[in-house]
Amino acid sequence: MSVYQATASAPVNIACIKYWGKRDTKLILPTNSSLSVTLDQDHLRSTTTSRADPSFEKDRLWLNGKEEEIKEGGRLATCIKEMKRLRREVEEKSPSEPKLSSFAVHIASRNNFPTAAGLASSASGFAALVSSLAALYKLPATPSELSLISRQGSGSACRSLFGGFVAWEMGSAADGSDSYAVEVAPQSHWPDIHALICVVSDDKKGTSSTSGMQRTVETSPLLQHRIKNVVPERMKAISEAILAKDFDTFARITMQDSNQFHAVCLDTDPPIFYMNDVSRSIIALVTEYNRVSVENGGKLKAAYTYDAGPNAVIYAPKENLKEIVSMIIRYFPQAEPFKDPFGLFANESLGSGRVVPGFNEAVAKPFEVGAVKGLIHTRVGDGPRVLGSEEGLLGENGLPK
Ligand code: DP6
Repeated sequence: MSVYQATASAPVNIACIKYWGKRDTKLILPTNSSLSVTLDQDHLRSTTTSRADPSFEKDRLWLNGKEEEIKEGGRLATCIKEMKRLRREVEEKSPSEPKLSSFAVHIASRNNFPTAAGLASSASGFAALVSSLAALYKLPATPSELSLISRQGSGSACRSLFGGFVAWEMGSAADGSDSYAVEVAPQSHWPDIHALICVVSDDKKGTSSTSGMQRTVETSPLLQHRIKNVVPERMKAISEAILAKDFDTFARITMQDSNQFHAVCLDTDPPIFYMNDVSRSIIALVTEYNRVSVENGGKLKAAYTYDAGPNAVIYAPKENLKEIVSMIIRYFPQAEPFKDPFGLFANESLGSGRVVPGFNEAVAKPFEVGAVKGLIHTRVGDGPRVLGSEEGLLGENGLPK
């Protein structure tokens, strides 16, 4: 008897031009285009195995070993239904193909990073789900076509169908058919872009992206200005900066757009706060680090960006990462030794960190151990990967291993 099963992994992405606001909440159509950097799956990824079998009674899904309900009409159900629809088209064209679209599926998914790290796993999760089903169903679909479906799982997930630098074109069609992701440049174009994720501890339960952005759409006049007058020009300018490998412009726009995203959150009624004192201190450090460079005739050397939470992501050319890690550790002492995947400190001890000459140390006060509870050094990465059967997450019985 044949086993119909496929496994795929997909990356996390962090936006430089933020998606915030929907014009259609069911289809997940945004009020503005957005642009992100795909991060390396060697460090952060979701892996998903899908199996279709005539003996399965219903579609089921396990996330990190725990079964999740697939609510009728919900985002998961929509993605699975859309993928079965594409499979049906294949079966109609090639009648010898097994009728997988009529079988239920079992899906097991895992993240290689802890949910407690506060990193959004919905983007990599829905991208891995769609990629594994596309492999199972042998769909001829392009990444942009698949992004139309992962978009309906979570907006930002459409951007995880590509590696490198990715735009989500907002589109204008009411049915969402022109609201998909496109590659601006592949990873290989600018592999030198690295990222330091500062995992900031956060006890409060924050406002979810989904409900927060809806409230912003309903109440923020600043969002309307952003949509009409700011994002279109920034999308063009940052795409050009990426193609020209102009880090100075890339960094300036990335920081401005993070700031404006948090400004529209503050402009929401009632206001939404995602950054905290630690987040703001990291902004002060990156700003001072850049000031020293610019005042010495240099260019911007790092760019911060923040999503719907207090974690900082700092983008920088690889050559600056050593200085940046040292600076962060000086102000945010770590309980655990820094995991150094790129061997920045191969032959030397990191000690208690240090700042570059000319740096005004008074721009922030040092915090206690644990204020930044972890640092992840990663870089721009590739798009979804189809994996071999040895990486499958379902056992012979069709249940998670
Ligand atoms: C701040 O994609 O999580 O990270 O579409 O409702 O699932 P839904 O929202 P989601 O929002 C992400 C918002 C953001 C900015 C971004 O990634 O562009």
